[in-house]
Amino acid sequence: MFEVLLTLILAVSVSFDLNIWLKVAIFCVWAILVLPGMYAMIFGAPYVRSLKRKDFAIFELGNFGEGDRVVDLGCGDGVLIGRIAKKGVSLAVGYEMSIPTFLFAKWLSFFRKGKAEIKYGNFWKKDLMKFNKIFCFLFDRSMEKFEREVWPTLKKGTIVISNEFKMPTLKPKKVVDRVYLYEK
Ligand SMILES: C[S@@+](CC[C@H](N)C(=O)[O-])C[C@H]1O[C@@H](n2cnc3c(N)ncnc32)[C@H](O)[C@@H]1O
Repeated sequence: MFEVLLTLILAVSVSFDLNIWLKVAIFCVWAILVLPGMYAMIFGAPYVRSLKRKDFAIFELGNFGEGDRVVDLGCGDGVLIGRIAKKGVSLAVGYEMSIPTFLFAKWLSFFRKGKAEIKYGNFWKKDLMKFNKIFCFLFDRSMEKFEREVWPTLKKGTIVISNEFKMPTLKPKKVVDRVYLYEK
């Protein structure tokens, strides 16, 4: 979303009669800010918040509480992981790879009580074994990669909650309102 806006700003600014080096500088800033998010959007999922009406299913299945170490893979604006943090979990982390979305999530987190940590980064490169509950809202191709690459590395008992999208071959333990729960 922010990437589209920044691209429009780039298109408008280069259409002005600017010095070539200023245009190059604007292009470089655009590339730094936008390319990681484009990658996340194309290969993961674009920034779309989980619907509020899904809260019941997510919190019912997640049963988040004391002792839980929860991660949101691609936390977007960080609102959901912020709400999970308020359940008194031991650790709540949201990884986000789109720079403008990450900055937006960080900014929102200043106004929120609770202790969710919003971190910049590609979750595929993070150690997910320290978490006992993993939440995601990603497209099918990411769920396929998750099942193939991440699932085998998870500790026994780890819970995975996926909004809308299933892992291709694993059978969920529970499903509520198209929110899928898997237990390793
Ligand atoms: C559909 S949104 C989900 C937002 C939030 N989890 C929720 O449910 O409200 C997916 C987010 O994942 C981010 N994302 C996709 N691939 C990623 C990756 N490899 N590393 C970190 N973030 C990623 C996208 O930038 C996007 O903001």
